[in-house]
Amino acid sequence: MSVVDEIKSRLDIVDYIQRTVPLKKAGRYYKACCPFHNERTPSFVVNQDTQSWRCFGACAEGGDIFSFAMKQNGWSFSEALNELAKVAGVEVAPQSPEQRIQTETVDRLRGLLKTIADYYHDRLFDANDPAAVAALAYAREKRGLSVETLKKFGIGFAPPGWQNALEYLTQLGYSEDDVIDAGVATRNDAGRVYDRFRHRLIVPIRDERGRVIGFGARALAPDDQPKYLNSPQTAVFDKSRVLFALDLAGRSIRDSETAVIVEGYLDAIQAHQAGFTNVVAQMGTALTEAQLKRLAPRWARKIVLALDADAAGQNATIRGLEVAREALQADYGGRLSVDIRILVIPDAKDPDDLIREAPERWAALVDEALPVADYAIGVEAGNLPPNASLQEREAVARRLLPILIASENDLYRKDNLQKLALRLRIGERDLLAWAAEQQRIARARPPRGASLAPPEPPPEDLEPPPPDAAGGAVAPAQTARPASPTPAYEAELEKYCLRILFQHPELFYHVNRKFRELAAEDAGLARGPLAELSPEDFSRSDYRALMAVFRMALEQDDMEPLDFIRAQLDPRLHVVLDAVLLDEVDGMRNRLGNRMLADLAASLKQNGRLASPFNLSVEMIEKALRLRVQRLLRERQEVAFLQMEAETAQDALPEHADYLEQLRLSITAQHLIEQELARQITLSKQFQITPQIANRI
Ligand code: UTP
Ligand code: MN
Repeated sequence: MSVVDEIKSRLDIVDYIQRTVPLKKAGRYYKACCPFHNERTPSFVVNQDTQSWRCFGACAEGGDIFSFAMKQNGWSFSEALNELAKVAGVEVAPQSPEQRIQTETVDRLRGLLKTIADYYHDRLFDANDPAAVAALAYAREKRGLSVETLKKFGIGFAPPGWQNALEYLTQLGYSEDDVIDAGVATRNDAGRVYDRFRHRLIVPIRDERGRVIGFGARALAPDDQPKYLNSPQTAVFDKSRVLFALDLAGRSIRDSETAVIVEGYLDAIQAHQAGFTNVVAQMGTALTEAQLKRLAPRWARKIVLALDADAAGQNATIRGLEVAREALQADYGGRLSVDIRILVIPDAKDPDDLIREAPERWAALVDEALPVADYAIGVEAGNLPPNASLQEREAVARRLLPILIASENDLYRKDNLQKLALRLRIGERDLLAWAAEQQRIARARPPRGASLAPPEPPPEDLEPPPPDAAGGAVAPAQTARPASPTPAYEAELEKYCLRILFQHPELFYHVNRKFRELAAEDAGLARGPLAELSPEDFSRSDYRALMAVFRMALEQDDMEPLDFIRAQLDPRLHVVLDAVLLDEVDGMRNRLGNRMLADLAASLKQNGRLASPFNLSVEMIEKALRLRVQRLLRERQEVAFLQMEAETAQDALPEHADYLEQLRLSITAQHLIEQELARQITLSKQFQITPQIANRI
């Protein structure tokens, strides 16, 4: 996933724009008066589904989160990339050759892990192996898991024995080192390689897209230590970043905007089996910032921490809160937009026991989970001796204040302050003064996540799980938003056009001449839908950025355009540039369809005439025309949705004469382009019959 896609997958355009523009919901859209021009009827529309914005009024412009940030702040693409990366908490270093090799390694490990997960899963149902039969009985009877649940979670069984997995995998062609790198086997000091997981129930740990990245393996024999043996840190598994069951919980979390975090694998599995599908598990460690950011604020507005009632659990909870506060505070200017609540499980049970005994109590407990402030005051004050000194009480207050400030959006919310004052027997004025002092100190510190912070490794993947991975239990949902909304054809076409332009910059003028020709005398067309090829013709922001630099390249003549592009382009986009330039010419042509041109190109290539300016020009013009049609359709589709929406919401669409005129021009332009394309195809058919003729042209 490119940095651009990753940023997009992390940030919601509505949330982002809403920070500065008062958006109002209208049906499935959000509207406001356009921030870029003066108006009284709102014609600025944000579409959450497509993560795009558009002004249907005087600006007649639109785009994605990047183009919005650029336009609003006057940023270049690189600046927008830097700034949005900070907001999204994404590291934007370019991919080095080492990283590319790393990517390949990762792909191989993923394949191995999937294979061995399937192997373990099949072993669990091996009726001929008495050990497997016992393991299955444990899972079903002792742990109360249905076969359906076992399959859904891919639960498996690692048989006793030292080399079952190793042998299975090496027979398939994996090397011992691969198996070790995947964390499935270990090598001891004597150099002997053996299975890590032996005679254990296997819980595959999957990333949020459902790909197996590691295992938690529960002991089956009572005296086996440890109870859970987990995969070690590997190239694909970092337990501080993963949330168990997020692949199955994603959709439900997005629908309910609530995520419940439990401590153990089995707690999460049990919750899902009982139909509480918005539950995920942390991985036996304190909650980390990376884990929280997977959930909030993009998917969840409310996070319920369901933690064991024992003292250790309470400490973990407080630690978790600190993490939550720090992580989310950094992004939201000190205001936690996520509601964090604490669910204390009564009677020192864990969620697993509770849900098995009384599933109906679970929903109530989640609903009644305490706001952080109440919980924290209760725990901290409860730990104070009855006759605590003022110093002791002040220390507690100072520990609690940051939590209260961050979690309540408003420290001055009377009852919190009152509660704290009452519990600690400290005056409200003193509390307020200490809080103000802490806020001053916090503000003086550079914000976390800013460039001063040590860079975090880029997180695995943040794409929402595919809909089928979410389990059918949940009602129809807002469709998962793909990280890159661009369909394959569109993306290929965009890439193709860029590549040809970069290699033959003069074709830019050929294309524009064609647009002008089609626009003929209609200035509206020439200014609007048939204007010069521009960054807006590309749906992807990184391609838009490439196009923008390309246009700059044409406006100078000190350097060859491609050299200029390399020199000027944000280094982090060099990967994208390389991908654009390196594509297989023939593969691309074939995929692009148009057999006639493909054949023509092939025969021209044989004759050493691939770069024949005339033919390339014809082809480039054709592709550019198609590119423009895509853009017009993209723009009009949003209008169409908007109208439908306005009708259903009985919310009148602003009757802008501007906007009707735009629509008319757009349709006219498309019509003209399609006529031209039809003419070109006839033309290319004539060429095709005798490539020799083409050679003479
Ligand atoms: P628990 O011991 O509470 O797990 O540890 P549990 O799920 O309730 O275990 P059961 O019900 O006895 O099977 C909570 C989590 O801590 C991690 C695991 O992720 C576990 O799910 N853990 C625990 C380990 O990694 N290793 C251990 O030895 C124990
Ligand atoms: Mn348990």
